[in-house]
Amino acid sequence: MSNNVKILFEKDSLITGNQSVKDFVENSPAGHCSVLLNETHYVVVKESKKALITLENVRATAGNLARDLSTRKVTSAEVTADVLTNGFPKLDKGEVLTAFVEGWQLGAYQFLKYKPSITPFETTLSVTGDEAQQFVEAGKIRAEATAFSRDLMNEVSNVLNPETFPEVLKQKFEGTDVQVNVLDKEQLEKLEMNGVLTVARGSKYKPAFVELVYKGDDSKPLVALVGKGVTFDTGGISLKSGKDLSDMRMDMGGAAAVSGALTLLAKSKAKVNVVALIPIVENMPDNTSVLPGEVIHYKNGLTVQVGNTDAEGRLILADGLIRAGEWNAEYIVNIATLTGAIMNALGTELGGVFGDEELSSAIKKIGDVNGDFIWPMPLVDAYDSSLDSDYADMNNISSLSGAGSITAGLFLRRFVPKESKWLHVDMAGVMDKSKASGYYAKSATGYGARLLADFTTHVSK
Ligand code: BES
Ligand code: ZN
Ligand code: ZN
Repeated sequence: MSNNVKILFEKDSLITGNQSVKDFVENSPAGHCSVLLNETHYVVVKESKKALITLENVRATAGNLARDLSTRKVTSAEVTADVLTNGFPKLDKGEVLTAFVEGWQLGAYQFLKYKPSITPFETTLSVTGDEAQQFVEAGKIRAEATAFSRDLMNEVSNVLNPETFPEVLKQKFEGTDVQVNVLDKEQLEKLEMNGVLTVARGSKYKPAFVELVYKGDDSKPLVALVGKGVTFDTGGISLKSGKDLSDMRMDMGGAAAVSGALTLLAKSKAKVNVVALIPIVENMPDNTSVLPGEVIHYKNGLTVQVGNTDAEGRLILADGLIRAGEWNAEYIVNIATLTGAIMNALGTELGGVFGDEELSSAIKKIGDVNGDFIWPMPLVDAYDSSLDSDYADMNNISSLSGAGSITAGLFLRRFVPKESKWLHVDMAGVMDKSKASGYYAKSATGYGARLLADFTTHVSK
């Protein structure tokens, strides 16, 4: 098999007049991406004309191509910036270059740590053209940040746990412009982070709270990104049932998203002022675990009855929101694999966003462009009283049988500092994929890294 291929699009390949390529193109069905390696080592991508109109199509095409070429053990591929941008004539040239590189790298992503017999193989891509390089670089940064989030999510829970996660972050950001503050259990006690301390009680791992600080421009409004970091969610005493709970290792997807966003922003030297706030716990049943009915006293004065220990995400995010207030954040976005109900509402293609309506519609538009799709959801005031508790200010579960994602949002809203503009992103439905397709690998998606980085940049303009 060839070691180096050049990538051409259908139109360009016909110009070469190579008969076998022409036959191939004409005989391929429209509307999908096909690849041919012919004697002259050319690759042809055929896509229906209609499909070439969004940046997501560019990323998906590149991802499929990268995977296909890797399977064929092609070592390198080359494409000229002109051929590439002509392949997607309706789109901005720079954005096409970035999206192609991003999709290529993410399409080739594999988590092979626990398959030592498989040697990682990746077809390297070179895009030629001097002016193209800044866009190529941007694509690499976006892919690397998303891949970092995927790695964190895919990692197993005995390796990535509340004691090791902070170390991984320290290592990742060492020597960068991101400062890492790790608050340990003693500091959590001083800071009265009682949600985190309570949920963590049944685990053999001490909880932690990590702050990632990036000051790319001090004059910009402070954006706090709060990410749920449950390294495994068994449900606790309200134990989950099911034959395979292994996906619950990804219950730190929010933490992965904010960590990825900080890498993206710092690497691209964004002119933003941002702090990631990451409560990290494992939710386990034990004789020390929080029991249903217990009451948590929060630092802001609110008391919460733990009606269900499996609704733990909101309990630790509450501390994160209070902490964001102590940082005087102007904008707060929390992100979490929070409710199974969001999957019933929206499926696995888009996340749900709650909170400030203007910001919700802004973040939706950002996701439309960058591939982290998201849809605005309502915080229905009439459901708020369903969180009432007989003996505390509120319960962590709703008395309603429906609207589970909305009532989770309403719970969080009670902890949002008065002065801040706030969004809540529920990413439970989009945390993983059941099969590889486009620029997604099977398993973790790395959802949210690009979304939060681009949102932060957007509000810092
Ligand atoms: N981590 C889960 C939500 C989840 C479910 C994420 C499926 C990804 C896939 C969360 O902590 C949880 O257990 N939520 C409960 C809330 C309920 C007890 C009010 C749920 O969604 O069932
Ligand atoms: Zn849970
Ligand atoms: Zn959870």
